Amino acid sequence: MNKYRRKFLKSLALLLLFLPIRIFPSSSKESVISFKYGVASGDPTNTNVILWTKILPMGNPEIRVRWEVSSSNDFSNLITYGHVRTNSRKDYSVKVDAKIPKQFNGKKIYYRFLADGKNSDIGTTSTLPSENPNNFNIAFCSCSNYPAGYFNAYKEIAKNKKIDLVLHLGDYLYEYGHGGYASKDAEQMGRVVNPKHEMVSLDDYRKRYATYRSDPDLKLLHQTKPMISVWDDHEFTNDSWQKGAQNHSKDEGTFANRKKNALKAYYEWMPIREKGRKDKIWRNFKVGNLINLMMLDTRSYKRDKQLDIERYFTGNKFNKTAYLQDLNKPRKLLGKEQFNWLKSKTDSSFKWSIFGQQILVGPKYLPKILRNVDKVNFPEYLHKYISLAGSEIPYNPDQWDGYPKEREKFYKAIMNSQSNLILAGDSHNSWLSNLFDKKENFIGIEIGAPSISSPNFIDTFGEFTDSLDKSFIDSNKDLIWTNGKNKGYVELNIFSEYVDVKFNFISSVKTKNYKRLKPINFRINQGKALS
Ligand SMILES: [Fe+2]
Repeated sequence: MNKYRRKFLKSLALLLLFLPIRIFPSSSKESVISFKYGVASGDPTNTNVILWTKILPMGNPEIRVRWEVSSSNDFSNLITYGHVRTNSRKDYSVKVDAKIPKQFNGKKIYYRFLADGKNSDIGTTSTLPSENPNNFNIAFCSCSNYPAGYFNAYKEIAKNKKIDLVLHLGDYLYEYGHGGYASKDAEQMGRVVNPKHEMVSLDDYRKRYATYRSDPDLKLLHQTKPMISVWDDHEFTNDSWQKGAQNHSKDEGTFANRKKNALKAYYEWMPIREKGRKDKIWRNFKVGNLINLMMLDTRSYKRDKQLDIERYFTGNKFNKTAYLQDLNKPRKLLGKEQFNWLKSKTDSSFKWSIFGQQILVGPKYLPKILRNVDKVNFPEYLHKYISLAGSEIPYNPDQWDGYPKEREKFYKAIMNSQSNLILAGDSHNSWLSNLFDKKENFIGIEIGAPSISSPNFIDTFGEFTDSLDKSFIDSNKDLIWTNGKNKGYVELNIFSEYVDVKFNFISSVKTKNYKRLKPINFRINQGKALS
């Protein structure tokens, strides 16, 4: 190649590199870029926020995308912008860790993406205030099952103007195939999942996220609010732990490979910051000196295998001694590295320490009332559990109840922070409990979120749920209130001296038309147990 030709090619390459929006190789006539899945933002810190989008279709090996952040929705005043590339290895997902100038800290900002002459939707987000705000409002939720119902509760969060930040505590999606768990109404509601089989391969996980993210209410939620998410089991598969899961069998390949697929798809689709190892999801966020937020992984990183309570039944007879003996053996949930991190992050100078994590923390015992009811009203697999009702035998060893030694360690690690609020998802029902350690020291308040759409007690127990809720409170001394009837989300209005907790419920997930129910409100005063 002569030197003029080489020089020409080099200039051409440079020109291509600096064109503001460009597709490599040059866009073909058939290539139609679209931002079908909208936009999302997440993991806001005091300086940065993750901006996300995804491009369709994928006719090109690599796409260069421009991103813009503005203080106005007409983008006349750009705060910051840049370019980023995506390709088929990332499944054309786009993620930017945008640094937001100080003067816009904590303020509403607008963002969008541009490629191939097309614009994405405009999203709104903000960084977390570095100065102490008078008040900060968090919505938290979990267990959003697409085939089980419409995401009306997501729409409610998106429309709630007070909400500054959304925490998703996991079960953002479910792995089951069509016809599996919670899908009996899916066809009639037009909510059949893709793929129709259980998700196992990377392609399966990617397609399932695409199904969920086609939902207009979830799209709206991501477009309007920043989200901080952690996974629970169903982002992998049911009742997963570090090296396996209840719903994983050998014919589905190795669990390690399945976990790798699940992690890759999670990071492609969720507006979460990428840093080294994908499996270390625990992280910390601060709002002035009002809130120290710690997001934990009690599900996957170091969790030891759950005890299988079924093994302690012979027919309807339960071997209580053997069960309690095994339950009290040391079993890891957070693991050493996460514990050390947690200890280094707890800080008594914050007014509130909030722990976003997956599973219920406080002890939960089956209510006495189950002993006096007609079994025919319940599914047969529950009959033998009636013998545990009214006794102090934890019935769900997949929760912290299955890891009592680790729970005491957790309590010890967070004891020195001021006013602990421990948030939980996973159970599909709403809970509010005081937490005490074995020596009766007050540790904090646990708030369990209802599901967005996954079945809860009412879907199994029907009208009996009201009595069941009442009996749960009678049979669990630290439980203040519970609700197994409604789906929705929890709102926290956080002030320096108190937090108002609102359980926001909707009337139905089976129709798009629904009513907002009257919220159930509680006030938590700093450092005080609830009565
Ligand atoms: Fe769930």
